[in-house]
Amino acid sequence: MKTVSLTIDDKKITAPEGENLLWAALDNGIYIPNLCALRDKSEPTAGCRLCFVEVEGYSQPVTACTEPVSEGMVVNTKGPRALRLARTAFELLMASHTVDCAHCPANRSCELQKIAVQLRVKLKTKRFKKLVRDLPIDDSHPQFTYNPNKCVLCGRCVWVCRERHIGAFGFAHRGFERVVTTFGDEPMAESQCQDCTECVIVCPTGALVLKDGGKT
Ligand code: FES
Repeated sequence: MKTVSLTIDDKKITAPEGENLLWAALDNGIYIPNLCALRDKSEPTAGCRLCFVEVEGYSQPVTACTEPVSEGMVVNTKGPRALRLARTAFELLMASHTVDCAHCPANRSCELQKIAVQLRVKLKTKRFKKLVRDLPIDDSHPQFTYNPNKCVLCGRCVWVCRERHIGAFGFAHRGFERVVTTFGDEPMAESQCQDCTECVIVCPTGALVLKDGGKT
């Protein structure tokens, strides 16, 4: 396999040609915040807007999950313009997120906590007006619980469920009302779920957690 050489945050690395920057960075121990990307998903949606980086010679920051590596590329994951965009996206997200880490089964394994540290932003942001929803928690499934109030709409669960040709999950409604739910909004136990729990594995927050131990 052909590889290219590039520099990320002054670290020289190599990556397979055609690889996106996000995976090249993560594979080399350089963390870039991300929520909506999945390695197996060949067409990233770039919906969370958290993975902005600056690339030398580019006029604007780009999303690392959509940008392929190229020979001689020089990348800065901590440039001020990229950080400003990522922080705004994160703070907007947190403005509608229930922050209850001490009682959350995903505490310490939640991607939001990791991103907050990386971006140096508080989880309880004050920049935007807090607008949290109080949606019912679905505890019907024998293996996992779904708390839509902790969902960040990254779409990972929807994608893996569809990849497995199950399709128990999908998006419903628009704007602030947008939610991940089952077909017909029926309880998870009555949905087409086939108990693979892949959705729990890919969920980056406490929205989907196993009943016997939080995250996988
Ligand atoms: S991971 Fe790149 S936009 Fe979400």
